[in-house]
Amino acid sequence: MKIERALGTCYYPEHWPKEIWREDARRMAELGLKWVRIGEFAWSRIEPEFGTFDWDWLDEAIEILGEAGLKVVLGTPTATPPRWMIDRHPDMLAVDENGNPRKFGSRRHYCFSHEGYREESRRIVDQFAARYGKNPHVAAWQTDNEYGCHDTVISYSDVARKAFQIWCLNRYGTVEKLNEAWGNIFWSMEYRDFADIDFPNLTVTEPNPSHVLAFRRFSSEQVVNYNKLQVDIIRAYSDKPIAHNYMGRITEFDHFKVGDDLEIASWDSYPLGFLEDRIPESDSFKHAHSRQGHPDFQAFHHDIYRAVGKGRWWVMEQQPGPVNWAPYNPAPLPGMVRLWTWEAFAHGAENVMYFRWRQAPFAQEQMHSGILRPDSVEAPAFHEAEQVARELQSLSSDQNVDAPIALVFDYESQWVTDAQPQGEGCHYFDLAFDYYCAARRLGLSVDIVRTDARDLSDYKIVLIPGLVTISDAMKSALEAFDGEVIAGPRTNAKTAELSIPRPLPPNMPGLDATIAYVESLRPSVQLPIKEGGNFIRWREQLETTAEIVATTEAGEPAAVRSRNMTYVAGWGDQALLVRLLSETCTRIGVATELMPASVRRRDTKNHRFYFNYGNAQTSIGDIDLPPAGVVWKEQSST
Ligand code: GAL
Repeated sequence: MKIERALGTCYYPEHWPKEIWREDARRMAELGLKWVRIGEFAWSRIEPEFGTFDWDWLDEAIEILGEAGLKVVLGTPTATPPRWMIDRHPDMLAVDENGNPRKFGSRRHYCFSHEGYREESRRIVDQFAARYGKNPHVAAWQTDNEYGCHDTVISYSDVARKAFQIWCLNRYGTVEKLNEAWGNIFWSMEYRDFADIDFPNLTVTEPNPSHVLAFRRFSSEQVVNYNKLQVDIIRAYSDKPIAHNYMGRITEFDHFKVGDDLEIASWDSYPLGFLEDRIPESDSFKHAHSRQGHPDFQAFHHDIYRAVGKGRWWVMEQQPGPVNWAPYNPAPLPGMVRLWTWEAFAHGAENVMYFRWRQAPFAQEQMHSGILRPDSVEAPAFHEAEQVARELQSLSSDQNVDAPIALVFDYESQWVTDAQPQGEGCHYFDLAFDYYCAARRLGLSVDIVRTDARDLSDYKIVLIPGLVTISDAMKSALEAFDGEVIAGPRTNAKTAELSIPRPLPPNMPGLDATIAYVESLRPSVQLPIKEGGNFIRWREQLETTAEIVATTEAGEPAAVRSRNMTYVAGWGDQALLVRLLSETCTRIGVATELMPASVRRRDTKNHRFYFNYGNAQTSIGDIDLPPAGVVWKEQSST
């Protein structure tokens, strides 16, 4: 599939006097931007009172942007219901786990389960789509904005409770079956009726993890349904592609399932904010990367969203300079905005949009930079975007490479480790990410694959660490796969209802291994592996007749292998994972190259890209990379 690359920005005409819109549009086009996203927070200006609409300004803004040659992404405004909405539906507010309403005064204050708000959403989306569905300048849509941002997937409201009870009825049929599935005989937690079922919050000690998992499944489905409600309406009026802008490390809903209803996946990439806010690295790592971001975190999400978008994906918001919302908000190293942009393109992005065009001098994000300063003077990102726009003239299209390695990524596995971590920091997301980082350290391009993948035959290696339940579909796909599989720890460790299966885990096809017990480790404990590397955080005691390929210093099996399956009985550190993966690659003839600590590479069909996430000059082979440098070579010459 050929990918045409473009740049864009996020613009809020309602924040600025009309007199400057035309000049803004002209400057955007002159900078080389092709796309502009608008509308997603503008409900109070479009419908200042219930049923009273003011479209003139939005008509005019779209016209001005379109006339300047820009393509418009129109966002539905449902992430910011106006104040009058709360008067109409006082119980529409989401409720936090302590039972407090999440009040009006910022955004995303709605509960996904509220039927009244769903109806209001249908109404406003219908108005938008009817008015702009055939507008020649509206070339794509965005539903809502960042589902899940600010912890807003899960709501403990009264309406959500009722909806959850109905969901349980539909899933389990009878309350006896539900009691059985959750093991409610334990601690006399049995229900007599679906109406007895409450949320798994505010319990004396931990709630039943099966109850938590059910509630998480329900909450995820509410997002999927809510998104679909918008999509169905837009489709009735428009044949333009529909996207949603997902976020970094938001795992509370199944992005694949939302993505099934959309043409494009997009995500909002804030590398420096994420480093400080949601990556469990050491202080010294963060110190060293504070102006560059984590060298693998963006790539991981690019690859996830390429999978979520079934090949079509964008960066809908790209950090342009300091943000306002992380614990610390440094400025990027000069060159990083360009690097992040090219990295997205190298992973197959069609479009990278900078957030935002001009820094707003008011309200919550007044400290968040833009392409322009509040006084409209060019901010540093302007010049980096300008450089990318120039470079795109000779590199405007490409194709994705056939990656040799796939990592199966699964949202439910994260919900299970949320419900039952069994040790601080033992989260599925981090385990999957660690495997991903090891592959990247070896210079490999990786595809993310969903758990219902039927056919893995495009790959030479498939990684399934922590995939907590192996579905029948995945089992068949693995059985048919003749490449190498690396599993564990915690792979196939639970039933679909979150209990311990029998036969005991991992019960993988063709592998004689039984986990006798598991243990989690405090951060100061590392279990050295004889062949190199360590187990951290988590270890499993294996009973096995399979070939032992790694052993703890105490002499216990650390990794075993049978046919094409390797099972790793603990959480490997990078040294261990890189070694295991590299040995596997060597065995089956997949070429690897150990990257210097700060360098990552990514292949496309036609190019090999190198990125320097370090703040010092470095080199790899004959390639010199300045700090924040990006270099690409034609694939034929590699
Ligand atoms: C995103 C959001 C934007 C803006 C931005 C600031 O999460 O979609 O509206 O708030 O963060 O970095």
